[in-house]
Amino acid sequence: MGLDINKKPDMSVKMGDLFLKNPVLTASGTFGYGMEFMPYFDISMLGGIVAKGISLEPWPGNPPPRIVETPCGMINSIGLQNVGVKKFVMEKLPELVEKKITVIVNILGRTIAEYLSIIKYLNLSARIAAIELNVSCPNVEAGGIAFGINPDLLYELVKSCKQETDITLIVKLTPNVTDIAAMAEAAQKGGADIISLINTLQAMAVDLKTRRPKLQNITGGLSGPAIKPIALNMVYQASKAIDIPVIGIGGIMTPEDAAEFIMVGASAVQVGTANFIDPCSAMNIVTGLERIVREMGLGSIGQLRGSLVV
Ligand SMILES: Cc1cc2nc3c(=O)[nH]c(=O)nc-3n(C[C@H](O)[C@H](O)[C@H](O)COP(=O)(O)O)c2cc1C
Repeated sequence: MGLDINKKPDMSVKMGDLFLKNPVLTASGTFGYGMEFMPYFDISMLGGIVAKGISLEPWPGNPPPRIVETPCGMINSIGLQNVGVKKFVMEKLPELVEKKITVIVNILGRTIAEYLSIIKYLNLSARIAAIELNVSCPNVEAGGIAFGINPDLLYELVKSCKQETDITLIVKLTPNVTDIAAMAEAAQKGGADIISLINTLQAMAVDLKTRRPKLQNITGGLSGPAIKPIALNMVYQASKAIDIPVIGIGGIMTPEDAAEFIMVGASAVQVGTANFIDPCSAMNIVTGLERIVREMGLGSIGQLRGSLVV
């Protein structure tokens, strides 16, 4: 009996209570609140979207210039500009839910109490598929050190957030650490349902003529194809260290990139900087990934996960 490469593989993914029709999500901060991309394609065809990071109160963000292009990437210092949780739930979320889009809400705070206040607000809205904690922010109660670079701080934050909600909790790790496996373990121990990684890498760019940093904020976060090999390694290391599902992020531009992340252990992926180059990138990755799975003769995306031969 020959291989039927026309048979539609099962692309759905189940990570704990979170069900996705396919493993392709958009990354926080690179896809607005979703509606900005509705003129380009039917967003409900994606596995889901991760909305722009939301804080308790609206944040104005950093002054420009706050984006600079680099070889194979970009550095941003947007400063987490957002409308705040109340406006998001009242004005942005209803349209997304009405269009049957799976919405993951990315949140950030300067103290554990701030994270908990946002979660309390989100608990009132039964329409959120998951909450993703951005742990790259400075903790003002711990001298400004980011939650995500100290395993004890990370554990405390995750544990407190987990106790506050029944909504699926994703912890998004920062790559600006020496031991990513230790951070993944701390998140799992704290009660994370899923981890996602990586966020941007700390970076800077200099204008030689003016002797000034190219970003007003001096430093920012590097993303795009330049970070893919680093992200791939971190997803591999984290997947080996923990039992909960992992979402791979970092420089995913093509369906092949997405397949590589799944092969090293990710259950799903997020597409970020690629959205700035082509607004249809994530959709093209959905269709391309299905083609790859079919051409490999696999019946489901699950059969690709962790299939790396070492
Ligand atoms: C302009 C911009 C804004 C971002 N804003 C957020 C954010 O609000 N919250 C967050 O967790 N990550 C944010 N990120 C990080 C991305 O979600 C993603 O983790 C990172 O860019 C790596 O993926 P990529 O190389 O595919 O872009 C932002 C990235 C960019 C480029």
